[in-house]
Amino acid sequence: MPLPKHVRLVEVGPRDGLQNEAQPISIADKVRLVDDLTEAGLAYIEVGSFVSPKWVPQMAGSAEVFAGIRQRPGVTYAALAPNLRGFEDAVAAGVKEVAVFAAASEAFSQRNINCSISDSLKRFEPIMEAARSHGVRVRGYVSCVLGCPYEGKVSAAQVAPVARALHDMGCYEVSLGDTIGTGTAGDTRRLFEVVAAQVPRERLAGHFHDTYGQALANVYASLLEGISVFDSSVAGLGGCPYAKGATGNIASEDVLYLLQGLGIETGIDLDRLIAAGQRISGVLGRDNGSRVARARSAQ
Ligand code: HMG
Ligand code: MG
Repeated sequence: MPLPKHVRLVEVGPRDGLQNEAQPISIADKVRLVDDLTEAGLAYIEVGSFVSPKWVPQMAGSAEVFAGIRQRPGVTYAALAPNLRGFEDAVAAGVKEVAVFAAASEAFSQRNINCSISDSLKRFEPIMEAARSHGVRVRGYVSCVLGCPYEGKVSAAQVAPVARALHDMGCYEVSLGDTIGTGTAGDTRRLFEVVAAQVPRERLAGHFHDTYGQALANVYASLLEGISVFDSSVAGLGGCPYAKGATGNIASEDVLYLLQGLGIETGIDLDRLIAAGQRISGVLGRDNGSRVARARSAQ
């Protein structure tokens, strides 16, 4: 399959990146991160989550973050919503796009959202209905597509029906998440081959955590499968509170560098992106997780 000419990066740093942080991060720092990402040219930024603060305390201030950011026309600012309550809170905060999240493994579904896969899909139905009436677009996630922290290997045959159910209920795009980052390029190609028989490739996205250092190879494998939307996290921030040991998403800077080398357009300014990552890494008091940012900053 020819490589795409244009790729859309879904920047998940402010949400997937920060949700796992135990240290307090001020609303001002979160707002600054989103604004920096807007300035860098990201067209899609996942800003926060309207989930239970008992489950993910770090996302509790998401409405304030939405109130504080400078929204640029044409850029999508999205949030996670696990249930109707979360959806309503998101809409009240002015959110125009939400994401619902299901899993390919039963054990992860229970740990992450406290219900079975089929109950989670039922829980999303009223969200889809409310979203239609509010003109809100809904993106879908499937977690644990290449492995589960509790169940081990997950087959593509387990992923496909969940991805299809999300697409059929009205998610305009379904992002397949390698939550624990164990998948390889071969696994990734097989996954997209199988899932694409149920959901059109142009409606699928890749979401790779880099725990085993395979994420960039998995992005390339996905490009070869005709996938042109990838979730990534500035400075490689993050992890998942319900997937012990999972590291951050693939760093946005590293994906961008790969894409630039392939002559693929994204509309993103690498230098500004690196600056955004350097700043938030400083706030968190840790090394930048992007190899590209580290190399450029050492020059
Ligand atoms: P539950 O305990 O089963 O829900 O949690 P409940 O309905 O029984 O409610 C329990 C309490 O939470 C109640 O409060 C509710 O009011 C409150 P209490 O009466 O005890 O004071 N509550 C809420 N509060 C705020 N916002 C809400 C909300 N809903 C209920 N929306 C629930 C079920 C889904 C709420 C919970 O499990 C939850 O919030 N889970 C979120 C987990 C999460 O955010 N995980 C990380 C994101 S997923 C991810 O990172 C993977 C991804 O990146 C892809 C990949 O890498 O694979 C997307
Ligand atoms: Mg994730």
